[in-house]
Amino acid sequence: MRKKIVAGNWKMNMDYADGISLFSEIVNMVRDEKNGDQEAIICAPFIHLNSLAKLGGTIVHIGAQNCHQNESGAYTGEISAKMIKSVGCSYVIIGHSERRQYFAETDALLAEKTKAALANGLTPIFCIGETLDERNNGDYFNVIKSQLTNAVFGLAAEDFSKVILAYEPVWAIGTGLTASSDQAQEVHAFIRSEIAAQFGSEIAEGISILYGGSCNPKNAAELFAQQDIDGGLIGGASLKSRDFTDIVKAFNA
Ligand code: PGA
Repeated sequence: MRKKIVAGNWKMNMDYADGISLFSEIVNMVRDEKNGDQEAIICAPFIHLNSLAKLGGTIVHIGAQNCHQNESGAYTGEISAKMIKSVGCSYVIIGHSERRQYFAETDALLAEKTKAALANGLTPIFCIGETLDERNNGDYFNVIKSQLTNAVFGLAAEDFSKVILAYEPVWAIGTGLTASSDQAQEVHAFIRSEIAAQFGSEIAEGISILYGGSCNPKNAAELFAQQDIDGGLIGGASLKSRDFTDIVKAFNA
């Protein structure tokens, strides 16, 4: 059975006090709604991670939104996977389209970051997805295949089996334009078939593939009901405790 996961991505939002109060609300609300086979995660800015890990316990797990590929050294302003692990985090988002776009992160760099995360006991939530142009010119399967091939298909099978994937069409992120459940399922099924071709069907069946891009309490249940959609990576709606909790509840709708 694949894990069902709802992961929030706060991005660069929430000062310290606001983050603590939002997270406390989320923990209290999610505690009553989450089933045993579900996982709720909040990926917060670095300043929050230590405090949230202490507050959340096992009810809502904590993730970072990025890590450096090296363990330590003269990289002013950077944070390593080892440091993130040391404050009680279990997850890290790698390869979000905003990192690819604004910080010029390449597939080769993301492959290194993924290895660093795994080597330090963090579960990578690895993001892939096409732009609007790539969707419109029908190139999206190739784009997604090359992101997988160049960044995570080089991992050993045992390592790859620990990764969570997130399909996030760039045109759907923060735009209010959600991929339809059919569009999302089509890509998720494609991703799973590519994993099967690379690593075999047992690993492909075990990997959780999340959908991200304007996922909200209204569309989550239909998306999550698709055969190959195992949850969501939630941006805007993770900044409201009620909305985030309602998305967690969408698995039981
Ligand atoms: P959104 O962001 O839910 O605000 O569209 C999703 C993401 O970027 O992970």
